[in-house]
Amino acid sequence: MTGNAPLKRLGRDVLRAVSPRLLDRVQVARARRRYLGDPRQGPRRLLVEPTTACNHRCVMCMDHSPRLERPTPPRSMPFERIERLLRDAAAMGTTEVWLAGRGEPLLHPDVVQIIALAHALGMRSQVTTNGGRLTPEMADLLCEAGLDMLSVSINAGRPETYARVHRAPAGDRARVLEAMERISRRPGPRPDLMASIVLSALNHAELLEFGRDALAAGARTLVVGGMRGVPFDGRDLFLKDADWARVREDLAGLRDLAAAAGARVLVDNIPPEPGTAAGQWPYASMGCFVGHMFAVVDVEGGVRGCCSCVDALGSLEEASFAQVWRSEAYRRFRIACREIPSAGLTPAHCGCRECGNIDDNIAVVWAPYVFLLDGKPHHCGTDVFNLARVDGRWLISGIADNSRACPAK
Ligand SMILES: C[S@@+](CC[C@H](N)C(=O)[O-])C[C@H]1O[C@@H](n2cnc3c(N)ncnc32)[C@H](O)[C@@H]1O
Ligand code: SF4
Repeated sequence: MTGNAPLKRLGRDVLRAVSPRLLDRVQVARARRRYLGDPRQGPRRLLVEPTTACNHRCVMCMDHSPRLERPTPPRSMPFERIERLLRDAAAMGTTEVWLAGRGEPLLHPDVVQIIALAHALGMRSQVTTNGGRLTPEMADLLCEAGLDMLSVSINAGRPETYARVHRAPAGDRARVLEAMERISRRPGPRPDLMASIVLSALNHAELLEFGRDALAAGARTLVVGGMRGVPFDGRDLFLKDADWARVREDLAGLRDLAAAAGARVLVDNIPPEPGTAAGQWPYASMGCFVGHMFAVVDVEGGVRGCCSCVDALGSLEEASFAQVWRSEAYRRFRIACREIPSAGLTPAHCGCRECGNIDDNIAVVWAPYVFLLDGKPHHCGTDVFNLARVDGRWLISGIADNSRACPAK
């Protein structure tokens, strides 16, 4: 209980005595504000980009592909800034920190310390890595620091394809798989393992081999992604319709393999089968609540509402994370996302139409409700819950509702 709790209680009692109806309204307005208006709660999940440096040159990478004229220059976020950020987020109730972004997180000199800090602050942590730095020593350190989820990008089913995609030695694929296996067999605390493949013309026929090896190495989640737009000529890399038909067949086989191993398959940015309802863009009919539950902090300290948005809503150079999260720019972003269906527009410079949170990973609950106050119907309406599947559990990612007087019985 905070220091001014008695004062709040007194205010409530006075208001109840003067006008119970007004108190009702204030309480309802507060409940709404808590979820949708003035978020004292921070994002549930925070993506931090610790570094833009990378030791691979994946051909489809937007930042380090050898086809880029100007690859993203290597920069790292100082540990002190990351520490302030995590403490700030933890104080606002953030429960998950995800290290990823435009570089290779395991190249950050303090990556183990960052994980340990997140753990000490009571937050779950996840790292997305190409695994190139996943030596046995690093694997042990990450486990000991309390890492909860390790997501390894293995964009090939065979060593020679791995070399063509990652521009790293072919033998590294086996090394990465061995490191995963070592982690999965480790006694004591260890992260859950995830393996991902981004499909391109180079690797799309190797989905089953990718899955078999990743499952054997202990992965319990397989993520199959379609390649997103790249800032260079990548026409030869994108899949054709016939390739997608084969991918869909292999996906069915992959799901069987995963199920037999007690694992699951998530898909991201895979075009739906032609003629199926799954092809509809979900945000055409419901708002997006990413601004309430998620935030991205890039290596320069820019805070963005979603990975798909280019513009920063504020900067840690000028303000704390909490100040940016509660800023007017963030408020406007939240509203713009929630209003996509009625506005017919997506927020400026956001790639919402390419959003990967479709099909397998999101769902909607639409349900009538009766709001009871002191056991009596106060108002009625409809609740809409956006659900996101995270680590196998369905979580509420956003709530919208309307309200009206309850119909007389
Ligand atoms: C940019 S990387 C950064 C983290 C780390 N370096 C890695 O590769 O895991 C994050 C993820 O994006 C994926 N990726 C790279 N290029 C992509 C593209 N054009 N479309 C979709 N995903 C891509 C990578 O395979 C990886 O899983
Ligand atoms: S390892 Fe990750 S950041 Fe590095 S080139 Fe590949 S996709 Fe890009």
